[in-house]
Amino acid sequence: MLIKRPRFSHIPGSEITPQHLVESRRLFMHQLAAGALTASSFASNALAAESARHRLAAPPNPAFTAKDTPTKFDDASSYNNFYEFGTDKGDPMLYAGSLKTRPWTIKIDGEVKKPLTLDIDALMKLAPLEERLYRLRCVEGWSMAIPWIGFSLSELIRKVEPTGNAKYVEFTSLADPAQMKGVNSRILDWPYVEGLRIDEANHPLALLCVGMYGQSLLNQNGAPVRLVVPWKYGFKSAKSIVRIRFTEHQPKTAWNKTAPDEYGFYSNVNPEVAHPRWSQATERRIGEDGLFTRKRKTLMFNGYPEVASLYSGMDLKKFY
Ligand code: MTE
Repeated sequence: MLIKRPRFSHIPGSEITPQHLVESRRLFMHQLAAGALTASSFASNALAAESARHRLAAPPNPAFTAKDTPTKFDDASSYNNFYEFGTDKGDPMLYAGSLKTRPWTIKIDGEVKKPLTLDIDALMKLAPLEERLYRLRCVEGWSMAIPWIGFSLSELIRKVEPTGNAKYVEFTSLADPAQMKGVNSRILDWPYVEGLRIDEANHPLALLCVGMYGQSLLNQNGAPVRLVVPWKYGFKSAKSIVRIRFTEHQPKTAWNKTAPDEYGFYSNVNPEVAHPRWSQATERRIGEDGLFTRKRKTLMFNGYPEVASLYSGMDLKKFY
C-alpha cells in the first residue's frame, strides 16, 4: 500500500531559531550572492510594501486586550507564514510587495439571504474598527502577541443574513500566480482555503482584521483583509481573503487536504493533543524567548477559555 506523504508540512518548533531576523537576512545575502535576487528587485518590493502602509486609527478595546507584552513590529512583519510568497519565514517580507491590494473586492455568498460583493474600503466601514491585542500560536511551536485592528466577523455575518442551511463559513485567499510567486509551486492545493463552524465564526473573538500596530495590514501579514482566530492554530487565520462563502457542509481546507492526519478541521490550540511529529505542550514567544530560555507552557484554547462552551460534549482529541 502506498502511504501518501504530504508534499510539504510545517516545521516543528524545535527547529526554530530565535535569531530569525539574523537568519532571514543571512538568507537574503545568500540569495543576493547567488543571483536569485537583485538589490533593485528587493528595493522595489520593499518600497511597494512600504507605500501600501497607511495609518489606521482604532481605539483599543480593553475587553479584548491580552496582558501579554506586544511582539515588536519588526518581528511580526518579518517572520511570517504566507506560502503564496514562499515557505521561508523571510519570504513574505521579501516578495509580498508584488501583491496589489487596491482595488480589492470580497465576495460574500453561499447560504445567505443577502449576498454581497464589497470593495475593501466599503468593508472597512461596515463596523467601527478597534484594536485588540491577541496572541497567535503557530502550529510550529512559536507565538506572538499582536495589536490587530478590525471588527468581529459576526458584524459581517449579521449583514448578510445566513439561511438556516448555513452551518459553516469558508474563507478563500487570493491565488494569483502573477502576483504571488509561491502559487506557481505545488506546496499546497491552491487557493488557500480555511473554514469555521458558524457558531465559531460568530464568536466575538473571531476578528475580521484589516490592520495592525496602528496601520493598515502589511502585505506579508495578509493585506488587505485577513482573519484572526486567536484560540486556534495560526493557519486557521486565512490571509488576503477574496471570498467568504456560507455552506451547509464542512469546507475542504487547504492544510486538511494536504495532510489530514496532521491538520484537522478544528485545530484548536490544545497542549494535550500533540502534532503527530512534535509536542504542542510548549511554545516560544518570538522576540522574547531566547534559544536557551525554558519554553513557555501552551494554554488550552491559547488562553481563551471563553470559547470552551462551543465544544461542550465534543471529544477534542478526536476533533483535533
Ligand atoms: N493564509 C494564507 N493565505 N497563506 C498562508 O500560508 N499561513 C497561516 C496563516 N494564514 C497562511 C495564511 C499560518 S501557518 C500562520 S501561523 C499565520 O497565517 C501567520 O500569520 P502572520 O504571518 O501574520 O503571523
